[in-house]
Amino acid sequence: MDIHVLNHPLVDHKLTVLRDKNTPSSTFRELISELVMLEAYEATRDVEVVDKPIETPVAPMIGKHIASPAPIIVPVLRAGLGMLDGMTKMIPSAEVGFLGMKRNEENPTEQITYANRLPEDLTGRQCFLIDPMLATGGTLVAATHYLAERGAKDITAVCILGAPEGLKFVEEKLDPSIKFKLVLCAVDEKLNDKCYIVPGLGDAGDRLYGVI
Ligand code: URA
Repeated sequence: MDIHVLNHPLVDHKLTVLRDKNTPSSTFRELISELVMLEAYEATRDVEVVDKPIETPVAPMIGKHIASPAPIIVPVLRAGLGMLDGMTKMIPSAEVGFLGMKRNEENPTEQITYANRLPEDLTGRQCFLIDPMLATGGTLVAATHYLAERGAKDITAVCILGAPEGLKFVEEKLDPSIKFKLVLCAVDEKLNDKCYIVPGLGDAGDRLYGVI
């Protein structure tokens, strides 16, 4: 599996503030956004570009431009929404689809799809799946298969933190014929008995939006 874990002091610093339980939601949201922008550099390495003739104030040249149709960014609701702003800043031409998936708390590897706002046909589209916490890996596998079944050309998952158990699950369960890449800021120690990442950062959705 094509996995990229960022290794950079700026990422480490921002992650530490993000994890701190005393960090307020407003700072937490800003940090998620900044971390996604840093991840986007790696995540978009294979984004398709085409030649574009332009004129600078000095001379004509052939530049590069993101190809059409534009990539699709798919946040997994609800926590993935916190990563959307950073990702769209980096790819302003991207279209955005939404996928509402959550784990069944009584059976954490099983997924419930409760919302879907995506083009039915994703043929030839490059997709960026954004979800901050790769815990059991169940959501990521289900969401990736969902996009691939609709014809997505390649799928890049962008997560903030991962657990080794989740990475193993993805490696074992993901259809190997799917062109898939995963970018993370860090891989933590383990999952606890409630399937939270340890040391992690707690519930990403609650920390982004407050407890509902
Ligand atoms: N989802 C979260 O928000 N946090 C975790 O630690 C695991 C899954």
